[in-house]
Amino acid sequence: MGKAIEIKGLVKRYGKFTAVDGIDLDVESGSLFALLGENGAGKTTTIKATCGLTRFDAGEIKVCGYDVKSEYGEIRKIINVAPQETAVAARLTVKENLLLSADLYGIADRARTAAKFIDEFGLREAENKRAGTLSGGMQRRLSLAMALVPEPKVLFLDEPTLGLDVRARRDLWRELKNLKDRMTVVLTTHYLEEAETLSDGVAIMKNGKILVCGTAEEIKKRAGEYSFEEAFLKITGDDYAQN
Ligand SMILES: Nc1ncnc2c1ncn2[C@@H]1O[C@H](COP(=O)(O)OP(=O)(O)OP(=O)(O)O)[C@@H](O)[C@H]1O
Ligand SMILES: [Mg+2]
Repeated sequence: MGKAIEIKGLVKRYGKFTAVDGIDLDVESGSLFALLGENGAGKTTTIKATCGLTRFDAGEIKVCGYDVKSEYGEIRKIINVAPQETAVAARLTVKENLLLSADLYGIADRARTAAKFIDEFGLREAENKRAGTLSGGMQRRLSLAMALVPEPKVLFLDEPTLGLDVRARRDLWRELKNLKDRMTVVLTTHYLEEAETLSDGVAIMKNGKILVCGTAEEIKKRAGEYSFEEAFLKITGDDYAQN
């Protein structure tokens, strides 16, 4: 299988503040990995560093064997990110947004690519509506479709289901499950049931450090809890001693 992501000793500071404090993290190729942690834990910063969207102060990051610092040109071709803030162009229609993505990535048959994603993501009825007029859930779905246009090998999704209603979230879960095996997916979420249901592996961060890493099952066992949410609260609590 091999590793899609290898992070060693990653440190990222903003001025004197250390947002990511020396983390090590490996993600297997073809797996779905969830990065968890309370607000400000350092999840988005870790993703940004891994995608080459922010510089970092120490450590080494490899994506599919390429070094983020010295081989970024190669990495750019094989990764994509759907950021925490949705990245759709509000004044363009759904179809135009997808055509634009196809243009950005130099895809020859842009019309066919747009049509394929419109069908795959159930956007047919909305295809001629301006993206800014869609509900949050539909915008998220469009955002995910746009991120998939270049067929990335590694896809980063920062809180893909934020603000979705229960059904829209479940629909998106289905889309995410379909991505498994096709690519490596790294996502962040505050919905622990989501992480437990979808992911092959999770890491829980706090104050820029990784507290635990493993499967949700392993983490529950380690914390001595039946519920993943309880395990999360215990592990991220102030009085939890490691091991
Ligand atoms: N551009 C920045 N300048 C200064 N501090 C920053 C910057 N970006 C993030 N931080 C700080 O770094 C820490 C980690 O932020 P990060 O966005 O990685 O957290 P997160 O785990 O993604 O949180 P959330 O769940 O709220 O999205 C926070 O304390 C945040 O305030
Ligand atoms: Mg974040």
